Amino acid sequence: MKYHIVTYGCQMNLHESEKIAGILREKGYEEESPMEEADIIVFNTCCIRENAENHAFGNIGSLKKLKRAKKSLMIAVGGCMVQEAGKAETLKEKFPFIDILFGTHNLAELGDLIEQKRLQKKAVLSVPEERRETEDGISPVRTSYPNAWVNITYGCNNFCSYCIVPYVRGRERSRKKEDILAEVEKLVKEGYKEITLLGQNVNSYRDGDTAFPALLDEVASIEGNFRLRFMTSHPKDFSAELVAVMKKHTKICRVLHLPAQSGSNRILSLMNRRYTREKYLDCVKYLKSEIPDAELTTDLIVGFPTETEADFEDTLSLVREADFASAFTFIYSPRTGTKAAEMEGQIPEEVSKVRIIKLIDLVNSLTRGKSAKYVGGTAEILCEGYDEKKGMYLGRDPYGRMGYFVSDTNPIGEFVTLKITRASGISLYGERI
Ligand code: 5AD
Ligand code: SF4
Repeated sequence: MKYHIVTYGCQMNLHESEKIAGILREKGYEEESPMEEADIIVFNTCCIRENAENHAFGNIGSLKKLKRAKKSLMIAVGGCMVQEAGKAETLKEKFPFIDILFGTHNLAELGDLIEQKRLQKKAVLSVPEERRETEDGISPVRTSYPNAWVNITYGCNNFCSYCIVPYVRGRERSRKKEDILAEVEKLVKEGYKEITLLGQNVNSYRDGDTAFPALLDEVASIEGNFRLRFMTSHPKDFSAELVAVMKKHTKICRVLHLPAQSGSNRILSLMNRRYTREKYLDCVKYLKSEIPDAELTTDLIVGFPTETEADFEDTLSLVREADFASAFTFIYSPRTGTKAAEMEGQIPEEVSKVRIIKLIDLVNSLTRGKSAKYVGGTAEILCEGYDEKKGMYLGRDPYGRMGYFVSDTNPIGEFVTLKITRASGISLYGERI
């Protein structure tokens, strides 16, 4: 029997799909296949912005044909969108051919739900409001070699006013330090060369006396040749201890993903971000003074309710001052149940579109400028794949920049030093030395 998983959203979801694959293997689904050949199709959904939901709705709808052609096909839909209040019922009504609906809190029960569905005709709908079981016991089928994702926290307590995550992923929980260390040690022994610690807000990790900097220190002290990354950090929890640990270990990539969201203090306050523009820029300054080759990446939202041209200009100037290496940029999307969705002064789409284009132009010019500076120098690339179209191998440098090169042997999973001959957009091209 074969399976196919469709994933929307963030790295957390990508990693959860690896766990879903682990569960499916246990249930007798032996290999991944194209959708048309699969015996089970699982959708792992996202609800962070409306367009993520629209995509999923469209694609789930198109499964009807497959189901008609193959009666035994099982269709399961889970993840953040299903966990949203009322959404499971809507999905069930709109797509009666769905066999299983499960939430973020009971991913670990998917195997049992499949069993249940095998015994009954009726659809299985199981979306508990509280987390029921942790996923710690599941062996994921990892798909991102040489990188491996490792959860350190689940959920979020921050309630940024625009964000639905705390509602669909529940309160923050930290994994036990021993479990995290054991998992990373095992992965490094298995040959993974890059470990990414994952959490909605890694900086608020706590297990007994161990806070995030101490955890990072211990993970980075594990023997072996690997890179260490972590995301996401919240500026309100940025600390000198964190920077000290980054400085101490060359294994830790010198790049901090620190979502700013906006450069306007008035908007930051409405967003409930609990830091000011000044505090954010202090973090940037401190990081760069301690680790001069450190870089920052960020997330930015335009068109938050009541955002004026002056607020938006503040975001542009923050981007210039922080000199980001790259940024994910988003148009604000109202999410039912969040505070911001109820606010007056929602910004028309046309206005937000003009703003985001300006913002992307600025971010791209910074990114391109940084890439251009690499030409003539070298970059340490961890090779992760082969680009058929370009006929070149590809990988990332410690800052996350993509580097392309030609090689006679297969270097996937190896660290390769490139002499950079050309930069195009955000990508680097070089020769292996
Ligand atoms: N609208 C637009 N962007 C959002 N994000 C979170 N919620 C929303 C929303 N309602 C963005 C934030 C966050 C990233 C993961 O997604 O920038 O950091
Ligand atoms: Fe959402 Fe804020 Fe939590 Fe990030 S920190 S997941 S933006 S509520």
